[in-house]
Amino acid sequence: MDARLNLFGSAPAIDLKAEIARLRKARNAVILAHFYQEPELQDLADFVGDSLDLSRKAAATDADVIAFCGVRFMAEVAKILSPDKTVVLPDMKAGCSLEDSCPPDQFGAFRAAHPDHLSLTYINCSAAVKAHSDIIVTSSSAERIIAQIPPEQKILFAPDKHLGAWLNRRTGRDMLLWDGTCIVHEKFSVTELLKLKAQYPDAPVLAHPECPAAILDLADYIGATSGILATALASPAETVLVATEPNIIHQMRLKAPHKNFIGAPGADGNCGCNMCPYMQLNTLEKLYLCLRDLTPVIEVPQAIRVRAKLPLDRMLAMTAPPVTGD
Ligand code: 13P
Ligand code: SF4
Repeated sequence: MDARLNLFGSAPAIDLKAEIARLRKARNAVILAHFYQEPELQDLADFVGDSLDLSRKAAATDADVIAFCGVRFMAEVAKILSPDKTVVLPDMKAGCSLEDSCPPDQFGAFRAAHPDHLSLTYINCSAAVKAHSDIIVTSSSAERIIAQIPPEQKILFAPDKHLGAWLNRRTGRDMLLWDGTCIVHEKFSVTELLKLKAQYPDAPVLAHPECPAAILDLADYIGATSGILATALASPAETVLVATEPNIIHQMRLKAPHKNFIGAPGADGNCGCNMCPYMQLNTLEKLYLCLRDLTPVIEVPQAIRVRAKLPLDRMLAMTAPPVTGD
């Protein structure tokens, strides 16, 4: 888009990128962005990453303001881990279908019905659901965390049933699964992906575990966005097929411009339908406005925030890099 914006009718247009840079400095702000954000937001960010790495950055930052280019649950995590910071989200309507699938009262009842189960909860959920949970996981940390839970311990997993089923297959566990899905990863078409594989027989398929099993069965690599990016870059193949939100391809093209990265298609053969509609609500203009006005600001009620921090801290502790001696 045109980075100049005329917000004041006849007043001269402003250079949004320059204004964002000025406000970032003036407010001592850090801009964090998820791989699914529009390329122009990724390019402006101080750090672009997956859910786990973004949580770590939010917990460690010494900035006064965190401008979170991602979805609401990610910005909430930043607030929970860094309660003294001002956390702004360009568009407060940037939700997530997985969060929507798991209302806190229903999740609380599910937990209460299974008191002998440990609650392992995917980070894609509300702060209130986190507050009901024992340990939070991301796609990049779940296997490592499950390996640390005694095999006899019963586990319930929410809210993504595809990720949960994949983890069950990977770990041999029998976690009880909540019935939630990601509307984006559910759209990939097996028929269209098979056509693409026939067209590029040497191209590996890299898929996010939020995809249904029928797509994962066609994948050569399954992992979080950070793992998909690393695998795409490390692969000797000239063409790589990417079964996750296609904005991540921006990072691939930046780092390996000579390679051919193709987003897996939806049923109409057009991968545009696999863009996350929530992530897309954030724009350059809204990032500028939220840095200027410090609104919309993320607030998490203290009781929920304090309780939700416990399972997040457990995730960070259980995935901390080993401390090496001198
Ligand atoms: P990652 O943790 O792999 O970045 O996934 C986040 C997400 O929302 C996937 O849809
Ligand atoms: Fe949620 Fe799916 Fe969008 Fe990720 S891609 S934020 S899981 S709706």
